[in-house]
Amino acid sequence: MDQSIINVGLCCLDIISICNTYPLEDSDQRVIDQRWHRGGNASNTSTVLSLLGHKSAFVGTVARSHELSFLEKDFKKYDINIDRAIVKADCSAPTSICIINQQNGSRTILHHNKDLPELSCEEFKQFPLDSGIKWIHFEGRPNTDQIVGMLQHVETYNKSLGVNQPRIVTSVEFEKKREFSPIETFPDYLFISKEHAQFHGLKSKEQAVEFFVSKIKPSASVICAWSEDGAIAITKDSSPVTSAIFPPPKVIDTLGAGDTFNAATISALSKGHSLKDSITYGCKIAGAKCGIEGFDKLSDVVSFNVDTS
Ligand code: FRU
Repeated sequence: MDQSIINVGLCCLDIISICNTYPLEDSDQRVIDQRWHRGGNASNTSTVLSLLGHKSAFVGTVARSHELSFLEKDFKKYDINIDRAIVKADCSAPTSICIINQQNGSRTILHHNKDLPELSCEEFKQFPLDSGIKWIHFEGRPNTDQIVGMLQHVETYNKSLGVNQPRIVTSVEFEKKREFSPIETFPDYLFISKEHAQFHGLKSKEQAVEFFVSKIKPSASVICAWSEDGAIAITKDSSPVTSAIFPPPKVIDTLGAGDTFNAATISALSKGHSLKDSITYGCKIAGAKCGIEGFDKLSDVVSFNVDTS
């Protein structure tokens, strides 16, 4: 039983430019630094889970393009299993041009996905679920029917288990401005971003969880991070729990902060911590991430114990 946590969703190439200030339109300027980075929410979440000491795996499509060797090497560097990633021929790798403003750490993302097909339910079903998977985290992407099929597949597998056999926990994140999707009704944990909630006209994190908890299955929880206003989580029939943010001394780079919050919260929940302690841990690790460039130095700036003080 390898107890791995699997992340299903996007892997793309982030081309990051770190700028002195946010650029003016139609200007020509030098930037402080530029680097390639393996990005995409599921791919970033896999990275943070691995850094937090989990057996982490990425499941999704990747293009057979010239960026592939960089992406594969980078997965390897973080010890992320990509045995279940599907390499697609005759398409381009999705790419994000990411502008990081050194003044305030803001990240502006210009994303393009020309023609990489999304993972299909049939492809997902090729892989056995009885290999000791502890948790599967899905990115709520536009291929709704396919993701619903994947969640139903996991549900059917869980129902086939004996009482003493550990079931696979599921979570889904909804980050973008998207209509409510049936995907949101399936997981054990639903992560809602501020952007997704605001798209639904919700004005605070409290309103967000009240709205989404009415849509999910009875035993499930909704978790929502609301930038400077911290995070909140609720399960049907229980009062909401909250956490404040843990800002770093200086905000350096916020790219992937949401993915870090999700990863750290999942990490704590998967170890049996309470919802409150888990979102608090999520806020701590996400705060620490904002104070460093990328993810690599996370272990230098934060204790990985879920310390509830
Ligand atoms: C950060 C991120 C980037 C990627 C973009 C895709 O959350 O995953 O790595 O370029 O979002 O929307």
